[in-house]
Amino acid sequence: MEEKKSQSPSNLELQDFYNKALFYAAAAHDGQLYAGLPYVIHVCMVAAEVMAADKKEPLSNIKDAVQIALLHDVLEDTPITENEMLQNFVPAVVHGVDLLTKKEGQPLEDYLSGIKAGSSDVSVIKMCDRIINLQKPPAHWGSEKILEYYEESILILEMLGWSSEYVSGRLKGKIELYEEMFMRKQD
Ligand code: NI
Repeated sequence: MEEKKSQSPSNLELQDFYNKALFYAAAAHDGQLYAGLPYVIHVCMVAAEVMAADKKEPLSNIKDAVQIALLHDVLEDTPITENEMLQNFVPAVVHGVDLLTKKEGQPLEDYLSGIKAGSSDVSVIKMCDRIINLQKPPAHWGSEKILEYYEESILILEMLGWSSEYVSGRLKGKIELYEEMFMRKQD
């Protein structure tokens, strides 16, 4: 009888890692919404941004990076714990997700310093997340909140831009567009 070997991680392609992380994220965020659609659409958009970035300037580990992108909001927005994630994903992936998780009351600069101290891929993923989020602000946001988000985005670019020329260029363009479309005084 033919021996059945379990697939070792080295046999797995990028899309195998993608699908595993996507299933996990979809289940974790079940019921949550992003712009009125299932939340998982947000993490798919971030993962696409990361894969496009990797084609322009190869990341250090795209298989890990794509999983981190898909899972990046699991610890922040769902009851799932780091230990539970470690049963399904390698420590480097869980660590990346942890770095991207903003702890309660944590100042933004501390949060971004933590990301900056991690692998450059994590900085790239954070910028990709912000690229995706720089869309039309929710209707209930006032001009103060919009300005705050704009300034936060500039800080992200300043602190993490070193990690990728291509992605920082994309983020810079999105920040400029945000300013032009949503912050110009209408007088
Ligand atoms: Ni996000």
